[in-house]
Amino acid sequence: MEVIVKNNYQEISKLASQYLLNVVKAKNDAVLGLPTGGTPLGMYDIVVNEYKNKNISFQNVISFNLDEYIGLDENSKYSYYYFMNKNLFSHIDIKKENIHIPNGTTTDVQQECIEYENKIKEEGSMDILFLGIGKNGHIGFNEPSNYFEPYTHEVILQENTIKANSRFFKDAEGVPKTAITMGIKTILSAKKIILLATGESKADAVSKTIKGKITPGLPASILQLHNDITIITDKDAAKKI
Ligand code: PGA
Repeated sequence: MEVIVKNNYQEISKLASQYLLNVVKAKNDAVLGLPTGGTPLGMYDIVVNEYKNKNISFQNVISFNLDEYIGLDENSKYSYYYFMNKNLFSHIDIKKENIHIPNGTTTDVQQECIEYENKIKEEGSMDILFLGIGKNGHIGFNEPSNYFEPYTHEVILQENTIKANSRFFKDAEGVPKTAITMGIKTILSAKKIILLATGESKADAVSKTIKGKITPGLPASILQLHNDITIITDKDAAKKI
């Protein structure tokens, strides 16, 4: 596990974007695993600029998002589908058919999870997967629990996650209570993982991820078992390392 502590958000975003761009430059049909949330926004900004400067193409790139809320359709401005289009996909030349995000409005969640997992397997494996981390140590929407759920599945979101994510909604009431997320084994199947963390509120989760007991009570701790993971944090998030 490699840990890189940067001075500020801009430096984190720059380094993260370099990892993403280098993978695509080395392999134009790279398979990317992508997160939503506040943390990756700076990285996406830099990637979009790089595309606008004509330094890169995403024509053959395939992407898989980590998760999606259940009940929000593509047009909902709160869906992760909408988030990804707004912040990345609509600005670059990735093909629509190469974008994969769990369908939050499916009538058969179980089947959607199986199909999503199969699609990832069909592509081989993700060349690089970016993660944020919740204050409770969640990755994707894998919430603390008694066991590691291996594959793409439905989750009931915890109160603290709903509260944290309510900043993107009108109020906490509007945050869906359930979501579809890649599972832990899905995440660990990526060839390379980059975890981004900023701010003191993540310090506890970051230190437990790096040197805590491996436990489903802090899902990110399982990342200790991955053989190519880089954690990029700012000084605040690194305070308890
Ligand atoms: P954030 O979310 O980037 O908005 O802090 C991260 C996460 O909950 O995984």
